[in-house]
Amino acid sequence: MEREAGIERARAWISEAGSVAVLTGAGVSAESGVPTFRGPGGLWREHRPEDLATPEAFARDPLLVWEWYAYRRELIAACRPNPAHEALVRLEKRCEDMSLITQNVDGLHALAGSRRVLELHGNLFAIRCCNCGAERQQREPPASLPPRCARCGGLERPGVVWFGEALPGQALESALAAVRRAELVLVVGTSGVVWPAAGLLQAAPDGCRSVLVNLEPTDQSEQVDLALHGKAGEILPGIVAA
Ligand code: OAD
Repeated sequence: MEREAGIERARAWISEAGSVAVLTGAGVSAESGVPTFRGPGGLWREHRPEDLATPEAFARDPLLVWEWYAYRRELIAACRPNPAHEALVRLEKRCEDMSLITQNVDGLHALAGSRRVLELHGNLFAIRCCNCGAERQQREPPASLPPRCARCGGLERPGVVWFGEALPGQALESALAAVRRAELVLVVGTSGVVWPAAGLLQAAPDGCRSVLVNLEPTDQSEQVDLALHGKAGEILPGIVAA
């Protein structure tokens, strides 16, 4: 289908749906200057996740892991939301029941103004004590690396989910419930290879329509009713237009 006709169809489906679940990944923030993980220039093309994003890597070398997160925190703190994030804010205002489920840790959906965001992989600006579990939000760089808990002196870690770790239970449950009651699922900017987030699409009920927006085709392009390939910042404003 021609792109304009696809956008038109997605727009009609979205306006008919009372309940919409949106699932986003790194591609939604790419036009804000946030690096993706697996595409060209992606972080996992240059770095090995097992050296930087696992509990074992942190136990081995907390300073190395913190230096990498400090670099990403600094880079992302300078990024602003783009038209894709802004389109999803408009959709939230308009839709009776919209859930925004994200794998992103950059906080850009909230910064754009989305009010209800389910962060499946945590947040880059959260810092959690490994000892007492106290968690805080801090956008400024920690005074020294690795940071220590003001309460108990324990080693602190980034408040994100690493490979091999469970997702925050409450966020995952709410995400699953949102997909199960959706009349339309919109998947944006994700390679769809990281579980359990990648499995959410399959939890959609019979009769639920599904739309995918991604720069390039992914395995999930085959699973949806309508796949639109191109930049999220160009396509989303069109499909959520009133
Ligand atoms: P990926 O980097 O795996 O996939 C990003 C997708 O976005 C790719 O398919 C790109 O083609 C697409 N893309 C790039 N620019 C785009 C644009 N302007 N508009 C639309 N699409 C675009 O990122 P995720 O799928 O989010 O996990 O990765 C999932 C998880 O893997 C991340 O949350 C992270 C990573 O390891 C953790 O950190 C736990």
